[in-house]
Amino acid sequence: MTSVATRQVETAARRSSPRRFVMCRPDFFEVTYSINPWMNPAESVDRDLAIEQWETLRATYQEYGHTVEVVPGIPGLPDMVFAANSGLIVGDRAMSARFTHPERAAEGPAYHRWFARAGLPNLVAAAELNEGEGDFLLVGDRLLAGMGFRSSRAAHAEVSRHFGLPVVSLELVDPRFYHLDTVLLPLDGGTIAYYPPAFSPAARAILTELYPGAVVATDADAAVLGLNGVCDGINVFLSRHATELSDVLRARGYHPVGIEMSELIKAGGAVKCCTLEIHGG
Ligand code: ARG
Repeated sequence: MTSVATRQVETAARRSSPRRFVMCRPDFFEVTYSINPWMNPAESVDRDLAIEQWETLRATYQEYGHTVEVVPGIPGLPDMVFAANSGLIVGDRAMSARFTHPERAAEGPAYHRWFARAGLPNLVAAAELNEGEGDFLLVGDRLLAGMGFRSSRAAHAEVSRHFGLPVVSLELVDPRFYHLDTVLLPLDGGTIAYYPPAFSPAARAILTELYPGAVVATDADAAVLGLNGVCDGINVFLSRHATELSDVLRARGYHPVGIEMSELIKAGGAVKCCTLEIHGG
């Protein structure tokens, strides 16, 4: 009797599954231009500290059983550390990004070459403006897609065709939260955590309808890019300053793993921004 009861509890509990991540060490990280409100070229950036924080994130993923593949950085492309923007990889299909700002344009082909060398199947380069997993997040078997600041609506259609997946377009309205992954975190079991004020009224209505059980984040969580995290089924890697979100996640049966990202946040990125997932890889 006891063992059956125990097994049932285990079945109901959350579980992690091993993930494959792509990351780019911030060897050439700096803030020399400003393409989002977080970036101030007049403020100093400690690159060694950025590297140390990035190494901690990589080591933490590995400790939790995940695989990390590292793309070499390129001088003159300081935002290349934000690997999430480099493309989208789901199952046997891949697409490299096409960046909105000229400052980041060369990252698209650079990552494309790396994807090709890694042998990613059915790889294409986006024809439309598309900032990869910054704006396209897989939740269950649909993609949620951000627009308004970076990726275009035409990119949503292009992604839907290439991946053969339904894409739900969500308009972002707050310039601090210019990518979908700054305000929406896919959790376990096809649900999400998100910050409603970052979305247009129409997008909020869609999210309320699709995810009645979603975790709703506070202003304080959003302000530290707390939603810019990665969930492996049970562990949620996120900013260690997102304390309210961490408490709610813990109460829902997740295990928050807090990471310090103070240097990378000066460019407007945190945990998820540094992490491209090879879904189903
Ligand atoms: N400085 C970069 C930009 O503005 C930060 C990108 C953050 N990445 C992300 N996935 N949200 O493009």
